[in-house]
Amino acid sequence: MNIRQPYAPFAATLLLAALAFATPAAPAQSSDTPRLEKKDGRFALIVDGKPFLILGGQINNSSAWPATLPAAWSAAEAMHANTVEAPVYWEQMEPTKGAFDFTNVDLLVTQAREHRLHLVLLWFGTWKNGQNHYVPEWIKSDPKTYPREENAYGKLLDVMSPSSQANLNADKTAFAALMRHVKSIDATQHTVILVQVENESGSVGSVRDFSPAAQKAFDSPVPIELAHALHVPESTWTQAFGPDADESFAAYSTAHYIDQVAAAGKAEYPLPMYCNVWFAYPVHALENRDRPSAGQEYPSGGPQQANIPIWKAAAPSIDILAPDFYSDDFSLFRSIIATYARADNPLLIPESQIGPNFGRYFFYALGKGAIGFAPFGIDRAQLPEVPTPQGTIASAPARPANPADNFALFSPADSQIAQLNLEGKLQTAVEDKGAARQTIHFASADAVVSFGFPQPDGTYPPGTPTLQGRAVVAQLGPLEFLVSGFDASVRFCLSDNALQQTPNLQLEILRAEEGQYIDGVWQSTRILNGDQTDRGLNFRGGTPPLVRILLHTLPLYDEAVHRASR
Ligand code: DGJ
Repeated sequence: MNIRQPYAPFAATLLLAALAFATPAAPAQSSDTPRLEKKDGRFALIVDGKPFLILGGQINNSSAWPATLPAAWSAAEAMHANTVEAPVYWEQMEPTKGAFDFTNVDLLVTQAREHRLHLVLLWFGTWKNGQNHYVPEWIKSDPKTYPREENAYGKLLDVMSPSSQANLNADKTAFAALMRHVKSIDATQHTVILVQVENESGSVGSVRDFSPAAQKAFDSPVPIELAHALHVPESTWTQAFGPDADESFAAYSTAHYIDQVAAAGKAEYPLPMYCNVWFAYPVHALENRDRPSAGQEYPSGGPQQANIPIWKAAAPSIDILAPDFYSDDFSLFRSIIATYARADNPLLIPESQIGPNFGRYFFYALGKGAIGFAPFGIDRAQLPEVPTPQGTIASAPARPANPADNFALFSPADSQIAQLNLEGKLQTAVEDKGAARQTIHFASADAVVSFGFPQPDGTYPPGTPTLQGRAVVAQLGPLEFLVSGFDASVRFCLSDNALQQTPNLQLEILRAEEGQYIDGVWQSTRILNGDQTDRGLNFRGGTPPLVRILLHTLPLYDEAVHRASR
């Protein structure tokens, strides 16, 4: 990376950065429906005219009931979440055909507002984890009108057939009613900011639907638009997709069905919509096969890695394909992020474990531009009640990580963080085995991040026993950065490129302020110096603070003296 411009005078730099941060991204308009914004291949969710970072928590499957919601809100507050992901149950919402009961939805919206939280509604409709368990009883008990998927031997599965118009009509009607209702109660307040259409769709029990209607479609040519979009022959599924024909057919049928459900909902109220993914977890290295089995180990036809192109072509009403992540394998996490963070797909992790990896996964996803991150089952997870003292004091004792610290750090600055990410100015470093020191490169400077303490001068940092180190650095001005982290120190130096262009320069701190954003404006609480900045900013123990650091350059040598002494 190159420095193309001379550094602006420091006062001007500071003023520009201050202005940038005092001014909201766009004027807030209460009539603005939440939407996604794209800039140079990066994304932000815009709520009330401003970028919004979803610091989410998903409640348990059976928690969106009057009896269980109080515990859910407390859990979200303990997490420092700004958004709760909560299911809407088709079986509860339409107990008899055409008669809608929005009691639970109304309760969610009213109580979320009381707790100053946003909502992501999860439509548990035709699919829930590759099965049909949330369809109303009048559908479950009438498989003649509402046909099931059949496996290759004709067994009826607890999966609805995606090749049935009756199934589609029933779901579309209910989902449209839901979105119409949400609009009627929330079009000006925007408590609901995003909607998940179905849950982990696809089929558990068969690679595809073999019912007569599905078989007829499978024996017909691939739809022309799909063939064109995927550059496959306009021929039968088997000719076009070879050994992947069954799964590709399942993916198209499922995506096309869900697209029509989403479109019917958006016609009522066009909130951004996504599908979560039970992705295909790799098989164990020692097993004698190269991939897991569709319909057995994951729901066949969902938006799994290999099906993304089909889903993008067949479900244009779905804005985001969002992987649920349940593994401690960090390299798998990185590869899933690389797969789903695409120029045509905002990155969203709508479910993850709340275990020891939560913090590093969250930071990693944030550094890859995530618009949101949400652990699953927050109303069951035990969050330790730990005080959260502010402080970067180098000698502060480290204490065990509390998952809530992650969101506590960002929740006062969620809009600024989302804006910085939209502009491509935010990066993170996450500790990994053998990588206790990492460098984050910006055009003007490098941020050297060292994980674990103590960090005696001149030694390599020790790392942390559980690989918990993580840091975030965002560029506010040419030489001004917003910094924070856990079990990490961060110091700055000129980048190699900067040094190549102007070798006789060095970097030093002009000022480091600890503070926070209040109503979008930076408020400094103290100036850090001495032990708090001499060997880098130290983030050790407790909820770390945000630090805004302004650097400047000065000559490395007095040229005249230097030349004379040679
Ligand atoms: C993923 C699903 O999407 C969730 O609803 C839940 O069932 C979790 N798996 C596991 O508890």
